[in-house]
Amino acid sequence: MTDRVYIFDTTLRDGEQVPGCQLSTLEKVMIAQELETLGVDVIEAGFPISSPGDFQSVIEISKAVSEPVICALSRAEKPDIEAAAQALQYAKRKRIHTGLGASDYHIRHKFNSTREAILERAIAAVKYAKSFVEEVEFYAEDAGRADWDFLAQMVEAVIHAGATVVNIPDTTGFRLPTDYGAMIRHLKENVANIHKAIISVHCHNDLGLATANSIAGLQNGARQVEVTLNGIGERAGNTALEEIVMILKTHAHLQLHTHIQTQRLYPTSRLVSRLMRMPIQANKAIVGRNAFAHSSGIHQDGVLKNRENYEIIDPEEVGVAQSSILLTARSGKHALRHRLEQLGYYFSKDEVKELYPRFLEMADAKKDICDEDLIALVGDRGGRRKLELLDFEMKISQQHAPCAKIKLRYRENIIQVEASGKGPVDAAFSAINQIVQLDVRLEEYQLQSMNGGADDNGKVHLQLSYAGNYYYGFGVDDDIILASVHAYLDALNKITA
Ligand code: KIV
Ligand code: ZN
Repeated sequence: MTDRVYIFDTTLRDGEQVPGCQLSTLEKVMIAQELETLGVDVIEAGFPISSPGDFQSVIEISKAVSEPVICALSRAEKPDIEAAAQALQYAKRKRIHTGLGASDYHIRHKFNSTREAILERAIAAVKYAKSFVEEVEFYAEDAGRADWDFLAQMVEAVIHAGATVVNIPDTTGFRLPTDYGAMIRHLKENVANIHKAIISVHCHNDLGLATANSIAGLQNGARQVEVTLNGIGERAGNTALEEIVMILKTHAHLQLHTHIQTQRLYPTSRLVSRLMRMPIQANKAIVGRNAFAHSSGIHQDGVLKNRENYEIIDPEEVGVAQSSILLTARSGKHALRHRLEQLGYYFSKDEVKELYPRFLEMADAKKDICDEDLIALVGDRGGRRKLELLDFEMKISQQHAPCAKIKLRYRENIIQVEASGKGPVDAAFSAINQIVQLDVRLEEYQLQSMNGGADDNGKVHLQLSYAGNYYYGFGVDDDIILASVHAYLDALNKITA
């Protein structure tokens, strides 16, 4: 028998506190609906008293989502609790999340108060929230630095007052996994009524330990974990939802499971990244673009022999598409042509027939053929990609929107168009879109300099989505607009449509 761990998603509350990542109500509703499809148990939809926008978002999310519990944050203050209750009026399943600081730092330096007075406020807040809703979650802010016995006293008192979930945040990301786990165990063993509530873990990543601390908390008796997609959140962020879910799935011996539809992890992560304009680092566990990319020859070889040599998770399990055709000396011309098309190289049947003997020679010598081998093979042969840049011009002035003029070879045709856009990159991509006419969406765009000077080269990494799949593109040039165009064409060339 494995125990269920409840996934409490706070992407729209703690995650949204990141400067520059604010979402419109419509965008929040889109994310909430995706979270419902993903299978989260609780959506923390906002902090209603903080702004009219947050208040409205909780209302709209409550109307748009029916399965997960909708949760609203409040401080331990009557007006906050009233605003939370009011914003939750349309939620089918609702929860108020109220609380205040539990550490002596917060008690003395934030509230200028005493432990006794704070305890009274905590009890009163839970009782007041309970007068509006059945489910009340209490957070003991900065529990990570609180005195354990006082924390136990507080937890016991709020459960007695009606709290159904007790949240033990490591607000500053200070704890080590062993002590955070021991703190949760201390509560399990020293709070007389702890069986009447669920313990929740809420960890921040200031020392890069949020996931490890959350897992330690779960191993010691917590059964709810508070997370955000891609680990976004204030400062170094929160615990990443995708990491917790896949750790529990990969380590079945922990005997803990969630109800998350793991194949939705990657698309949901991309949606959050795009709407929050927050790129995901390439090596981010589970959802980074390199998470399942094998670049060294030894690893490629190992993966081709058996995926499990270098992969502990099947990429398809988290919604990452995988190339399924591995070319060997036994592959036929059809397979070769198909794989070349996947890479964006279009050859006639006769051209493939001519290429085939050289492919067999290479396959005999190398046993397994990777994409780079095929590109080298095609390069020798002068093969062409579906889309090729022939000419590019950009007009920029202060009076008019930037206008891109682009000439491409698209399959066998040479086409030239002009388009304007919000900025030069937007104009260039709009012009290319006019030519290819595919319903693609730019999911991620990252521009990096190589070594920092004004005369530097720009590197662009981007990702497009098309018909449910993701296509990565890369471009480099000393002109950043051209680097962007190369990256866009690179991704489009990989789409077989
Ligand atoms: O980190 C924290 O302590 C919080 C609480 C408001 C739950 O986000
Ligand atoms: Zn937090």
